[in-house]
Amino acid sequence: MRAAFLIVLGLAIGIIGTVFSMRALNERNPLPHAVMVTMGFHRHQLQQAIKGQRCEAAANLAQLQHMQMTAGDISAAFPDAPPPFQDLAGHLRTALQTAAQSAPADCTALATALKQVDQVCSECHRQYR
Ligand code: HEC
Repeated sequence: MRAAFLIVLGLAIGIIGTVFSMRALNERNPLPHAVMVTMGFHRHQLQQAIKGQRCEAAANLAQLQHMQMTAGDISAAFPDAPPPFQDLAGHLRTALQTAAQSAPADCTALATALKQVDQVCSECHRQYR
């Protein structure tokens, strides 16, 4: 009985220890997560604009440019990612550049411009998130 209890206790300590060390490892480099949270923030701002039907050209462009700059940090933030991941990061930069260049001046244009961008986000998340 006592042996069984000790085994269970040992297992529990092992599991807790593993969870803690995995967390510590994840926290060692907060940059990848931070880059994506920032990306999500700007995407959300644009979503709010569309939802509220307040899509001004200047504001749209500013958000898209923020996303472009953030996308420029993906490769550096995920240095150990495999080449296909880096390709997708490149696709995102291109998609955002195209979206920014289209200078969407209303919500319909903005939604259209974001379609291609969202596709790249999903494609990478499906494989690597
Ligand atoms: C090249 C790959 C790649 C592309 C492209 C990409 N992401 Fe990510 N994204 C990831 C990975 C990997 C994670 C998980 C990393 C993490 O949370 O530490 C992630 C996580 C996220 C998260 C979750 C963060 C959280 O709070 O847990 C958000 C939000 C996000 N991405 C937004 C976006 C948006 C918006 C786009 C497109 C504009 C995008 N991502 C494009 C790879 C990518």
